[in-house]
Amino acid sequence: MFKTPPPLSLYVHLPWCVQKCPYCDFNSHPKRGDIPEQEYADALIRDLEQDLPRVWGRQLESVFLGGGTPSLFSAETIARLLSEIRARIPIKPGAEITLEANPGTVEAGRFAGFRRAGVNRLSIGIQSFNDEHLKTLGRIHDSEAAAKAIEEARNAGFDNLNIDLMFGLPGQALEQALADIDRAITFEPEHISLYQLTIEPNTAFGATPPTLPGEDAIWDMQKALQKRLASAGYEQYEVSAYARNGRRSRHNLNYWTFGDYLGIGAGAHGKLSDHENVTRLWKTKHPKDYLQHAGTSQGISGNQQLTHDDLPLEFMMNALRLVEGFPTMLFDERTGLTLTKLIEPLERAEELGLVERDAIQVRPTARGQQYLNDLLALFIKD
Ligand SMILES: C[S@@+](CC[C@H](N)C(=O)[O-])C[C@H]1O[C@@H](n2cnc3c(N)ncnc32)[C@H](O)[C@@H]1O
Ligand code: SF4
Repeated sequence: MFKTPPPLSLYVHLPWCVQKCPYCDFNSHPKRGDIPEQEYADALIRDLEQDLPRVWGRQLESVFLGGGTPSLFSAETIARLLSEIRARIPIKPGAEITLEANPGTVEAGRFAGFRRAGVNRLSIGIQSFNDEHLKTLGRIHDSEAAAKAIEEARNAGFDNLNIDLMFGLPGQALEQALADIDRAITFEPEHISLYQLTIEPNTAFGATPPTLPGEDAIWDMQKALQKRLASAGYEQYEVSAYARNGRRSRHNLNYWTFGDYLGIGAGAHGKLSDHENVTRLWKTKHPKDYLQHAGTSQGISGNQQLTHDDLPLEFMMNALRLVEGFPTMLFDERTGLTLTKLIEPLERAEELGLVERDAIQVRPTARGQQYLNDLLALFIKD
């Protein structure tokens, strides 16, 4: 079914934070006392070993250490983890190795340690440079600590930095959102991820929703921010991702082009293609249970084989996030299905002005990008 297996990445989930932010629905847990770093690293390796038979002979194109707050881990543990991973599955030379870091969690010298450990890209969660907004978001850092983290990353030798920012914050005016982006641009990060704040159920904001700017105000904000980013040389290549000089996130691009990935760590998800099938796999969510069960059958909390009816939507949910869409060949390469499966919904999407296509490429129009959910709904098999 698959002529060649898709590129393979590794996601490693490190689930602890200093405290829980009121908007966050990631699998993150406030640390109480010391993080059991060594035990968790051991559990991750058991978890990886259990997954290895599914990917024999393959190499990793990228590794992403995400969270949670991975920068709470010591550089020594990250170094051990990366070398234990390397000892079990080859990481391609020049592979992108990203670690998520939060301002306010890194004492001097730790970034340099991460760099020495082999991490070559840092993703720093700044969110905003406005101290009032940072307080509303429950962040543990102020704008000065945010700026310092970026400077320390540069001093530690990182030449590939991402900054996470959010907009549409409670009480945020257009000028304040623009001031955030302008400040971010002064640091010349290679990449900016710009997310509209969403209110998620099962979060403190979900329980007591703050007042957000209106829909029109948020739309104006997004347009103005995109314009500012473009004039500073940041090319938007995905719903929330902007890169300068082609420094796109290779790890995320592998998700968006429906590549394969192993997911190790509490609650981590993986997606793997073998000769016949595409399978999703997810691990035990709570860190305490994960520590106990990783590497055993109880450490795997579920798996699902995607059917031929699921695959078109699953593929589109990723590929249509990309501004340039996808080459038509890729659908066949990644799903093992022929594009004929898609002709009907694609024709409908074209009629509605949501995609444009030719023999080699399918791309969402500006309208398709704006109404992505409507576009994707066309690929739901009823
Ligand atoms: C895995 S999260 C957290 C990374 C890191 N722990 C931090 O907080 O800086 C990655 C990014 O998702 C974004 N994010 C998290 N919750 C969000 C929400 N409810 N709405 C929009 N963006 C969100 C934030 O920008 C965050 O930096
Ligand atoms: S620090 Fe990041 S991962 Fe942790 S709770 Fe806050 S947003 Fe979520």
